[in-house]
Amino acid sequence: MSPSETILVFGATGQTGRHFIQHPLRDGHRVRVLARTPAKLGDARARVEAVEGSITDDLDLDSLLEGVDAVVCLLGDARAQQDRKVNTEFVQRLVPAMRRQGATRLLYQAGALSAPPDRALPVGLRAVRSTIARSYLGQHRDNEAVMRYLTDEADDLAWVVHRAGIGSDGPSKGALERSSRSPSIATFGDCAAYGYGLLSDPAAVHTCDVSSYARGGSAA
Ligand SMILES: NC(=O)c1ccc[n+]([C@@H]2O[C@H](COP(=O)([O-])OP(=O)(O)OC[C@H]3O[C@@H](n4cnc5c(N)ncnc54)[C@H](OP(=O)(O)O)[C@@H]3O)[C@@H](O)[C@H]2O)c1
Repeated sequence: MSPSETILVFGATGQTGRHFIQHPLRDGHRVRVLARTPAKLGDARARVEAVEGSITDDLDLDSLLEGVDAVVCLLGDARAQQDRKVNTEFVQRLVPAMRRQGATRLLYQAGALSAPPDRALPVGLRAVRSTIARSYLGQHRDNEAVMRYLTDEADDLAWVVHRAGIGSDGPSKGALERSSRSPSIATFGDCAAYGYGLLSDPAAVHTCDVSSYARGGSAA
């Protein structure tokens, strides 16, 4: 990334988000976040520009995006997503606002159990999705609709989707790499670091890949 950019983060209070924002802050970038409960940002609250609100509100997205170089969505609300494609509805409003404000880069984190638009999930992942992870079905359907929308209607933006495989909030297990293989079961911190790197990786643009630990890391 260029020095001193402005990054707008949705989901900064979440399990991936709270790790993610540390990276641009460490590199001297400005971080703006939309949070339903800014107090959940803890110590980071003093270092970011926090706007209180929900993606389901009638937001002034143009103001939120003013001066923004890159947008990051680390959003999830499995209960709300059971009944409604909350994230898709939001991304469909976000993308036109990004165009109006000249923000060209978008990182969206989905899950490894969400199928990419161009292929079915491997049998093993399909089995996990329909059994032990079935309470997240709505979230996966929502994330899949986001991927389809970006693929079909947003090829003018430099978007990238990370279909993360996350298992714990423990210590780092190594560096993740983009992969079309089976996903590693990664930590939230490693996914956050990987996602931050994706923002400045031109080879990742318009991909919806999973990630695996590099050789030497603890791949699942
Ligand atoms: N958790 C996993 O094991 C896992 C595994 C693989 C992939 N993923 C994917 O990674 C993405 C993020 O997951 P995560 O586990 O890091 O997130 P998370 O811990 O569930 O946090 C979700 C974030 O989204 C925010 N959010 C939800 N609804 C919102 C709304 N209406 N308005 C504003 N903010 C809202 C939450 O804010 P509040 O703090 O206000 O709730 C929180 O900051 C999801 O797409 C998920 O499918 C997760």
